[in-house]
Amino acid sequence: MEDYKVYWEEESKQVCFLTKMKIFSGTANQKLAEKVVEKLGTKLFLPEKFIFPDGEERIRILEKVVGEDVVVVQPISSLVNENLIELCFTVDALKRSGAKKVTAVIPYLGYQRQDRVFRSGEAVSLLVVIKMLEAVGIDKVLTFDLHSIKIPQFFGIPVSHLSALTIFAERIIQERLNKGAVLVSPDMGGIRRIKIISKMLDNMPFTSIEKERDLTVGNIHAKKIYAPSNHKSLKNRNAIIIDDVISGGGTIIKAVELLISEGVSKIFVFATHPVFSQNAPVLLQDAPIERVYVTNTVLVTKDKQFPKLEILSVAGMIAKELTPQL
Ligand code: R5P
Repeated sequence: MEDYKVYWEEESKQVCFLTKMKIFSGTANQKLAEKVVEKLGTKLFLPEKFIFPDGEERIRILEKVVGEDVVVVQPISSLVNENLIELCFTVDALKRSGAKKVTAVIPYLGYQRQDRVFRSGEAVSLLVVIKMLEAVGIDKVLTFDLHSIKIPQFFGIPVSHLSALTIFAERIIQERLNKGAVLVSPDMGGIRRIKIISKMLDNMPFTSIEKERDLTVGNIHAKKIYAPSNHKSLKNRNAIIIDDVISGGGTIIKAVELLISEGVSKIFVFATHPVFSQNAPVLLQDAPIERVYVTNTVLVTKDKQFPKLEILSVAGMIAKELTPQL
C-alpha cells in the first residue's frame, strides 16, 4: 500500500483547486485533460500540431510559459510511437519557450511491459523510452498502475505512482460486488496488487492464476488456480478479476475460462488501462463476464466501446496530485 498514493474521493465530487500551473494536452487523451482542468478550475492549452506530407510532426507552443510550472497530459498509448514522439516534442517546445518545470502526466506509460531482456538479443525498450523522456527535460512524471513497482526506480527524476485500486474498491463496495465473492489476479505478477485491494476491502478473500505466455507469438495458457486465501471453494461464488492492463484480452479470456471450469457463477473484471488492441472489445463483450470496469488513463474511442464496458475517471486523483500541498 505504501508504494501508491491513494485517495478515497468520490469522482462525482467537484474538487476545484486553484492552480497557477498551465495545463497542456497532447492529442492522445484530450478528454482526460479536459476533466482534469475542470477539477482544477483552470483552462486547457493545446499546442499547435502540424503534420508534414512525409509524416513528420511539428509542435509549437503559442502561450507564454517563461519561468512557469507547466503540465503536459499525454498517455503513451496507441498509436504508441506517435504519442511518445508528440510528448517529447511538446516538452522540448515548452522548455525552449522558457518553462521552468515540466510535469508529464503519462497516465499510461507505454513500453512498460518491456522492462527487461526476456530473450537474449532483445532491447530493454522501457529504458530507452525513459532516456528519451529525461533527455527532453521532463522534471517529474505522474503515472498510474505501473506493471512493476520497480519501474519508478529506473527513472532519474521523481515519479508519482498513483493507483486506480481505490476507485475500484470504492465501486466494488458501492455495487456490493464483494458479498461472498473472491478477488482474482489473472497472473502471479498481479498478486501484490490483489493483496492491496483485498486489504482495502476488509481482507476480502483472494486468489491467483498461474499464467504462461509464449514469448514468440504471445499465446497465453492459464495453467492453474490456487486455493482462495480463506481456503473455501470457488464453486457458486462470484469472482472479481483485477488487472493492470487489458491489451489483446487473452489474459482475461483465459482466466474467465479457468474460473468457469471451477464452477464460479458471475465474473466481473476491473483493469486500469484499457489498451484494447486487436479484437479485445469483441472478446470481452462475448465472454461470460457481467461487466468490465476500466479507467480513462487511455482514451477508449467509440469504435472500441461495448455494452458491458464502464469507464471510471482518474481525473480527480490527477488534479489532487497536481495541487501543491498546503
Ligand atoms: C501482464 O502481465 C499484464 O498484467 C496483463 O495481464 C497483460 O499485459 C494483458 O495483456 P493481454 O490483454 O494482451 O493478455
